[in-house]
Amino acid sequence: MHNDIERILLTEEQIKEKVAELGKLLAEEYRDKNPVVVGVLKGVVIFYADMIRAMDIPCQMDFMCISSYSGTQTTGRTQIAKDLSCDINGRHVLILEDIFDTGNSLQFITNHLKNKGAASLKICTLLDKPERRKPGVTVKCDYTGFVIPNEFVVGYGLDFDEKYRNLPYIGILKPEAYQN
Ligand code: IMP
Ligand code: MG
Repeated sequence: MHNDIERILLTEEQIKEKVAELGKLLAEEYRDKNPVVVGVLKGVVIFYADMIRAMDIPCQMDFMCISSYSGTQTTGRTQIAKDLSCDINGRHVLILEDIFDTGNSLQFITNHLKNKGAASLKICTLLDKPERRKPGVTVKCDYTGFVIPNEFVVGYGLDFDEKYRNLPYIGILKPEAYQN
């Protein structure tokens, strides 16, 4: 796996520091609110597991999974593969996402959750690739870990063809790795 990485963009240490920082901010924001923390599967799993421990306040875990992305290209069509398991009516909802790329996914998810009566709805993304944003995407992230250049990244949950999710850092793939 490591041989397919051109260069490390974010080290384990950098990610760890950022998660601690975001965790503190979010713990302040959601103290005594018992938020529903919604993870967007599957890319978020590693970030999610680290974040909820960094928050260190009572919270409820839930997950959504949408399908729209394969390989390095979005296929354009978005569907719900797994919806929330809990009722968010009257609840404070915090969405955790691995990366804010074109914005299609988060736009779709926030539209879907909008009419379910949440007391509040905020988004925290580990990575943001602003250069990739599609016109017409109006959703914004409330908390962002790192703004990154327009490169395809893997590791710390992010995949290419379901590979590399278990790399402990975030790296840029060598072109050979996705051209084969
Ligand atoms: P969107 O284009 O903002 O809808 O991005 C949706 C999803 O695409 C993200 O949640 C990731 O799972 C995936 N994605 C976007 N950019 C990358 C990348 O550079 N590497 C791996 N996955 C990515
Ligand atoms: Mg994702």
